[in-house]
Amino acid sequence: MGNESAPEDIFYVWHLPVRITHWVNVVAFFTLAITGFYIGAPSIALHGSPMLQVRIVHMLAGYVLTCSVAVRVVWAFIGDHGASWQSFFPYLKKGGWEKIRQELRFYLFLRPQPPSSSAVVNVSHFFVLLAFLFEITTGFALLSLSGSHNVAGPLFGWLFLLVSPQYVRLAHVIVMWLLLAFTVEHIYVAALLDIRERSGLLSSIVTGYMGHERHS
Ligand code: HEM
Ligand code: HEM
Repeated sequence: MGNESAPEDIFYVWHLPVRITHWVNVVAFFTLAITGFYIGAPSIALHGSPMLQVRIVHMLAGYVLTCSVAVRVVWAFIGDHGASWQSFFPYLKKGGWEKIRQELRFYLFLRPQPPSSSAVVNVSHFFVLLAFLFEITTGFALLSLSGSHNVAGPLFGWLFLLVSPQYVRLAHVIVMWLLLAFTVEHIYVAALLDIRERSGLLSSIVTGYMGHERHS
């Protein structure tokens, strides 16, 4: 948060449900990625490692991610305007494409001033949500293969009518890599905008407040 800003320049941008679901997602995601690497690397597991426990942790983190994503989806419909489902589709609003053009010019080093809007970032967040939903669907489908989860079978087993299990597993891993790539870009852009705008963007996802308003 910009300490030099006058109080009237300080805006409440992220309500509690958005901040809580963000950090629950982050912890669950890293737990899933680490345990997922482990599950996918039998060479590590062969050396007496606790594969069963790792799979259980993966599954539990999967349940946590599912609950958190569900809360965020509900909040998109009942919550504050800035976190609404409409913010995921800025190009549907008047002047949306122009905002996207200006922002891309900044990200491509064609424009020195940082954008006052966050349309591109909001679109990327929509894709993260889709990627989480994809991981949840494919994850529970994979879980149904173990036969011990009765709910997963009827709810997600249909996926194997369309695609064979090895492709579902491959897609599950590819989307993890896409999410990891997003994470690197995400932290870099948040830090870059924070420094260039002096807006306190990075701390905003902890405190909820930013130095000055960024329009969706
Ligand atoms: C962002 C979220 C997730 C990430 C990054 C992730 C990552 C991974 C990775 C890397 C693997 C190893 C696949 C391989 O190398 O063959 C895996 C396997 C698996 N994941 Fe996930 N996963 C996620 C979400 C979920 C969810 C929500 C569930 C549902 C409970 C789930 C259930 C499974 C199952 C059942 C397997 C197969 C385990 C096995 O065959 O022994 N995953 N996951
Ligand atoms: C661990 C380091 C992380 C930091 C410091 C961080 C920081 C931030 C900040 C500052 C924001 C609000 C500003 C903005 O719009 O960019 C934000 C939002 C967001 N971040 Fe992160 N983030 C981290 C990890 C992640 C990861 C691992 C993911 C997912 C793979 C993620 C997904 C999101 C999403 C989807 C939003 C939008 C919030 C919403 O609308 O629910 N972040 N993050």
